[in-house]
Amino acid sequence: MNNLPDNLILGLESSCDETAAAVVSRGRVLSSVIRSQIDLHGPYGGVVPEVASRAHLEAISLVTEEALCQAGLKKNQLDGLAVTQGPGLVGALLVALNFAKGAALALDKPLVGVNHVKAHALAAFMAPKDETPPEPLYPLAALVVSGGHTNLYRIDGPLEFTLWGRTRDDAAGEAFDKTAKLLGLGYPGGRAIEELARSGDPEAFKFSRPMLGQGFDFSFSGLKTQVLNIFQKVFAGRPPEGPALPDLAASFQAAVCDVLAGKLSAFAEAICARSVVLSGGVAANQAVRKAVAQALGSRPLFLPPPAWCADNGAMIAHLGAYQLNAGERLPLAAEALARWPLN
Ligand code: KG4
Ligand code: ZN
Repeated sequence: MNNLPDNLILGLESSCDETAAAVVSRGRVLSSVIRSQIDLHGPYGGVVPEVASRAHLEAISLVTEEALCQAGLKKNQLDGLAVTQGPGLVGALLVALNFAKGAALALDKPLVGVNHVKAHALAAFMAPKDETPPEPLYPLAALVVSGGHTNLYRIDGPLEFTLWGRTRDDAAGEAFDKTAKLLGLGYPGGRAIEELARSGDPEAFKFSRPMLGQGFDFSFSGLKTQVLNIFQKVFAGRPPEGPALPDLAASFQAAVCDVLAGKLSAFAEAICARSVVLSGGVAANQAVRKAVAQALGSRPLFLPPPAWCADNGAMIAHLGAYQLNAGERLPLAAEALARWPLN
């Protein structure tokens, strides 16, 4: 990425159900440690905020030590720290935020607060430690599709984001998760739906393509309702046997793919984007990746490797490095932001 900051940054993340720490320098990921809480929340069918906070507390210093150890660094060799300030679950965010404040104070290092959703968008421009990070061409059209957000940004530089579109109800990942829960596939459901959809017919059930061709906002709650209607009326409230379940998963996924790919390519066209990025947990989905690549044709598309689509500390360190370089500092009194103010 242009003018990559030449500093060693520790990134910390605890906004939802992953406790993560990583060390990044010049866009290169020197270490990345992620402790997932999926096993803890699975039995409840979704993230339980109190359980998440407690698990983050137990893990935060361990993942940090491990990230430093894997990078072969001592904490006083760091140039600065970056932590997710929001958006996310407040009790969860507070764990890494307070830990980072304490560490920055004790080590006398600068600290910045990072927007988790924007950090997802730039995750495509990191590289493993012995590779050169790819460089975006601006203006960059970015779609972040995660469990909590579906945001379309125009990006004109690492710190120049303009929000052009977002979901009006459920996020794309939330629609995957709610559909999976209804079909008895467990939590989180995105990957389970993708697996099931592989053997299904995407045209077996007719789903609408909500808000496609109508501006840059999204709406996914209607698709979830359509799944519910089919489930109740066609399958009498019981997960079907035989090919009907994969067919339903494939038809639902195809609708999400068409909407994401159609909106992102129309947006890229509208802002004359010189390159495009797709990121966030749902961007790990191979069908979504393929649909977006097809819709964009020859426009350059950047996709983080699946492991960096999901929550991680490296993306926080990566964006945080630019913020630190620009002279930003997080005041000790700064609060966790459950919602990040628009633009
Ligand atoms: O970015 P992320 O790890 O956390 C948030 O910031 O929300 O995204 C998690 C979301 C979940 O909703 C999960 O079901 C979805 O990403 N997801 C997927 C896949 N892998 C994760 N959705 C569809 N297909 C996948 N393979
Ligand atoms: Zn995320």
